[in-house]
Amino acid sequence: MIQIENLWKRLGGLEVFKGVSFEVQKGEFLALIGMSGTGKSVLLKHIAGLMKPDRGRILVDGTDVTRASFRELEDIRSRFGFVFQNGALFDSMTVFDNVAFPLREKTRMTESKIADRVRHDLEQVGLGGAEEKYPSQLSGGMIKRAALARALVRDPEIVFFDEPTTGLDPIIAKSILRLFDSFHNRLKLTGVLVSHDIPDIFGIVQKVAMLHDGELVALEEAKNIQSCSHPVVDQFIHGRIDGPIRYR
Ligand SMILES: Nc1ncnc2c1ncn2[C@@H]1O[C@H](COP(=O)(O)OP(=O)(O)O)[C@@H](O)[C@H]1O
Ligand SMILES: [Mg+2]
Repeated sequence: MIQIENLWKRLGGLEVFKGVSFEVQKGEFLALIGMSGTGKSVLLKHIAGLMKPDRGRILVDGTDVTRASFRELEDIRSRFGFVFQNGALFDSMTVFDNVAFPLREKTRMTESKIADRVRHDLEQVGLGGAEEKYPSQLSGGMIKRAALARALVRDPEIVFFDEPTTGLDPIIAKSILRLFDSFHNRLKLTGVLVSHDIPDIFGIVQKVAMLHDGELVALEEAKNIQSCSHPVVDQFIHGRIDGPIRYR
């Protein structure tokens, strides 16, 4: 379970978080939505312990990642699967080696067990046969799927996906979301999904949180979010041009 308590963070003269609090229960998937630049990626980096807040705590199963020692952070991160927004693949490694990397670095599995697992996971994400390709030879969708395979190869309990479908065509985007849904259902993952795939994501998460102007303006059951009456939420999820959100 992830508990975010009264998070404050100032970056580049801007209050990115002004007292953000919410929880993600074990086995629950939460979609984090909001305009570009509202701090969604920064929030995930805080949960991963890569950035420290000015104030507040983030507890992962009771351990405060904002104050954890290096060892404690390593332990917690070993249970995480991450797909960063721009953190694609290691360019100098094949798809196979990219996905095998966490197993080679962090486990004592034999090469033959690693090969079995990597081939299996690449099949799962529809990349069977692309093992020996390099990232520069892949399409955007293939890179995202390989990154997904790499994030899931160690059977993480907690996953974070930062815009896993942004920039992909709608069919590939849907297939990635479906894949994600099947992993979640099968493995009962706990996680946070940052995505603009509205309304598709509402069918695969349980909760939706919206960040706006440093605050959490919504934290709703996914089935209720589309009737949320908060004007900012209503405007954003329905893509209305008129409303309280102003673009300059
Ligand atoms: N390392 C950093 N240093 C300074 N400002 C940053 C840094 N990372 C992000 N920001 C700023 O924090 C805000 C939130 O960024 P981000 O989390 O990337 O937004 P989102 O993912 O919601 O589009 C933006 O104004 C961005 O410019
Ligand atoms: Mg982002």
